[in-house]
Amino acid sequence: QQSPLILPSVLSCDYSDMRGEVQKLEAAGVQALHLDVMDGNFVPNLTYGMPIVAAFRKLTELPLDVHLMIEKPGRYVRQFYEAGADIITIHEEAAGEETAQILQEIKELGAGAGVAINPDIPVERVMPFLEIADLILIMSVNAGFGGQKFNPVAIEKLQALRKAGPQELLLEVDGGVNLETVQACTEAGADLLVIGSAIFNQSDYNAAIDELYRSAHV
Ligand code: DX5
Ligand code: ZN
Repeated sequence: QQSPLILPSVLSCDYSDMRGEVQKLEAAGVQALHLDVMDGNFVPNLTYGMPIVAAFRKLTELPLDVHLMIEKPGRYVRQFYEAGADIITIHEEAAGEETAQILQEIKELGAGAGVAINPDIPVERVMPFLEIADLILIMSVNAGFGGQKFNPVAIEKLQALRKAGPQELLLEVDGGVNLETVQACTEAGADLLVIGSAIFNQSDYNAAIDELYRSAHV
């Protein structure tokens, strides 16, 4: 698998034609999909839950990277796993003292376990999980909406984690990644680049993704 990888965030895809959207992304050579689950509580926006994850599961064999922006995520990790999630990422701010335990549970289920933090949370808050987690997700916007401006605080955090974490730890960045900001992310050590509007606002996903890879200098 090449690194870094671009993961389309399907938050802004056309849900009246999920099959067509998945086909276009597969034709563009995409290697995984990022699904944003929001509960209207942890974040001031609501998206979808297990049924839509299960629907994507039926439409593609691509790995599904499920980003849970929900309170008390431990309540639902098993159901998201059963719906077909390959990677499940919880927010440290939402899981609190249960973070390590939930990451362990995700791994025992057989999925990749990720932990995320918003831009205003210091990177120290994820340092205790570098050995237990498979992935750290550094938010470069406040979780909740696509199309926001990239916050460069993410770059310093990625650099710090690349230094501190084991080599196999996956570093993911999410929010405001576009032609202008993607290179800084890869230079800082990001393995997984979650990109929503910079792909879905273009009519040709293939061309958009190619151009993003070129700008990432990989
Ligand atoms: C925001 C989501 C992101 C979002 C990214 O809360 O986690 O995955 O869809 O969208 P862009 O790339 O438009 O910032
Ligand atoms: Zn996301």
